Amino acid sequence: MALQGALMWICSLAVLSSCAAQDETSRCRYNSLTSKLKEAVELGDSLLLSWSPEERAGLLLNLRNLKDKLSTLQLRVLSSCAAQDETSRCRYNSLTSKLKEAVECGDSLLLSWSPEEIAGLLLNLRNLTDKLSTLQLRECQGAAPPQCPPAEVPEDGGLLCTTVSDKRYCKPMCNHGYDFSFLRRSRVHEECSKPTGFKWQSQFIGGNKLAVCIKAHIQVSGAASAYFSEAQDCLTTKSNSSLIESLMRGFMSELRSADVQGEAENSCLLCG
Ligand SMILES: *[C@@H]1O[C@H](CO)[C@@H](O)[C@H](O)[C@H]1NC(C)=O
Ligand SMILES: *[C@@H]1O[C@H](CO)[C@@H](O)[C@H](O)[C@H]1NC(C)=O
Repeated sequence: MALQGALMWICSLAVLSSCAAQDETSRCRYNSLTSKLKEAVELGDSLLLSWSPEERAGLLLNLRNLKDKLSTLQLRVLSSCAAQDETSRCRYNSLTSKLKEAVECGDSLLLSWSPEEIAGLLLNLRNLTDKLSTLQLRECQGAAPPQCPPAEVPEDGGLLCTTVSDKRYCKPMCNHGYDFSFLRRSRVHEECSKPTGFKWQSQFIGGNKLAVCIKAHIQVSGAASAYFSEAQDCLTTKSNSSLIESLMRGFMSELRSADVQGEAENSCLLCG
């Protein structure tokens, strides 16, 4: 059987080269290899026996190489993440589950690592956190009007932004346990538009910093809707599509009641 299968190789080489001439696709290569393999088996022994022992051994070598390669690939497909390992989805899932696992396994796992190992892990976590935070800013990129500079995202809070009728609106928010350093109870959002000279109108120190969240026991300086709840801080909200939708709906109805009319575009939530 192996011998029979072996002969496909020479034939397929010939076909592959004609395949290559007109069609380089992997589909073509797959089809021609498969048909040559079938053909060699179906033609019977006489063809195979017409080749020298050396030729048949050479074919067997080639067949074995291909089988080994395919078996390896198949194993990769079967093993948990491996085949998909190349896909970003799988990498995301496996990283997330490893992170969760490390937290949920409790202190004993973490304490089994040396102080140096823990410091190294913290460095990696910090690096990835920094990278993700930088990449996050791209989510709001390209929002109209283009002349408006991006507003700064308050640390320990977030920034909810949207564009309506070519005007950019951003609402700074603080996480639970933080309050605005500046009274802004009647001022839910800030605007950047042609009428504002494409600058952020802010009572705060000006520039692109709309607000600062400082540690506080009670939250009194902002409107009630400008605080994330204790259970759902900015990142928790952002990681849950139904929570983010409901936050956006609330923001839109606040804008409507401030007489901002029109379709919302480029809405995004950035977390500090
Ligand atoms: C963190 O990132 C810096 C450069 O961005 C790199 O030089 C350093 O090796 C990284 N640290 C770790 C622990 O990966
Ligand atoms: C999103 O938040 C809602 C409301 O708190 C909760 O019921 C739901 O389970 C969350 N979904 C996910 C995927 O965490």
